[in-house]
Amino acid sequence: MLKFGIIGAGRLGNVHAENIARLKAVAGIDAQVAAVYDPKESAANAMHEKYGAVICSGAEELAGIPDLDAVVIASPTYCHQEGIRAAVAAGRHIFCEKPLCRDLENSLAMLKLVGKSEKLFAVGFVRRAMAKTRKLKEMLDSGVLGKIRFCNVDLSFGMYRREYGDWFADFDKSGGVIVDMLAHHVDLANWFFGEPERVYADGMLLDPSQKKPSDMVGSIITYRNGVICNMLCTWQRFGRSNELMEIYGEKGYLNMTGAETLLYQPMDGEQQEIPVGAAQNAAAGVEEVKVASGYTQEMIDFARNMLGEKVEAPGIQEAFNSIKIALAMIESVKTKQVYNF
Ligand SMILES: NC(=O)c1ccc[n+]([C@@H]2O[C@H](COP(=O)([O-])OP(=O)(O)OC[C@H]3O[C@@H](n4cnc5c(N)ncnc54)[C@H](O)[C@@H]3O)[C@@H](O)[C@H]2O)c1
Repeated sequence: MLKFGIIGAGRLGNVHAENIARLKAVAGIDAQVAAVYDPKESAANAMHEKYGAVICSGAEELAGIPDLDAVVIASPTYCHQEGIRAAVAAGRHIFCEKPLCRDLENSLAMLKLVGKSEKLFAVGFVRRAMAKTRKLKEMLDSGVLGKIRFCNVDLSFGMYRREYGDWFADFDKSGGVIVDMLAHHVDLANWFFGEPERVYADGMLLDPSQKKPSDMVGSIITYRNGVICNMLCTWQRFGRSNELMEIYGEKGYLNMTGAETLLYQPMDGEQQEIPVGAAQNAAAGVEEVKVASGYTQEMIDFARNMLGEKVEAPGIQEAFNSIKIALAMIESVKTKQVYNF
């Protein structure tokens, strides 16, 4: 029986708790939400009532529960280091939500601290665990696009509803659209294209003079292998929503959206839809197949690694590499200069 403790029982804490409770059904792994810490009493109580989790009064108390196996950190971004420190000190495996931390000082300190631990560290880059993203990576690795030249990311969210007072709408706490949302696609770009060489960005940094919070960033990351990655990301209260990552190589084109289908076009051929996940099963006429969502899959992968399997999953270095670029984007916005790595 794998025993998990949850630090931060909000939106993501509950997603992870649910997936831990489902591990037996979806992957045959006995697991339990054994403990919870959340300073908001009602949030901790709800997790206690739903899963029987023991309520703890702090991260240290939770991580120190003698037979606990892993700590899941889903507290607000600016608190992640508290949970990581407690879990490392108690010798627990860690699943930490992205981004690693809000600032460079804590991110560097966590990279060093976790680097010395022999326990697992997984970061919640959920998009890496999605069937479509894994298929995209497989196709890139197969060389089907030839030399990759550029990538275009459009993450536009037109239904942002956060209000001032919410930590998500506080730039110092969440890092706005760059640290909170774009960090996912920065991680994907790192996974696909490698080491960044330089980045330039301009954006609103959740400008607090606005009547209602909203945010936007436009950025170009140039990778050492020459890939140019153009990224737009918004939190707006009107307008359009979109999720797109498209990659142009010398021999072809790949396109990933919110749908469970990739678009592929070879240089001299027609565009074709490549179904993945549930769509792939439906296309193949397979009736009853369990298709794990990204959140379910990343928890399955984490649990399997806890049991000694070697499942590829993003860890502390990947977590650091993404926040390093996100923070460089902020630096670039502030200085109006290109940031060279
Ligand atoms: N991977 C993803 O797709 C994804 C999506 C959304 C959020 N996130 C990340 O997950 C984390 C949590 O986001 P959320 O949307 O669940 O936020 P949330 O505000 O819904 O929940 C955070 C919870 O943490 C509690 N909390 C506050 N201070 C704490 C502390 N010091 N220690 C422990 N708990 C504390 C709050 O009371 C709240 O219940 C953030 O880092 C966010 O960036 C990831």
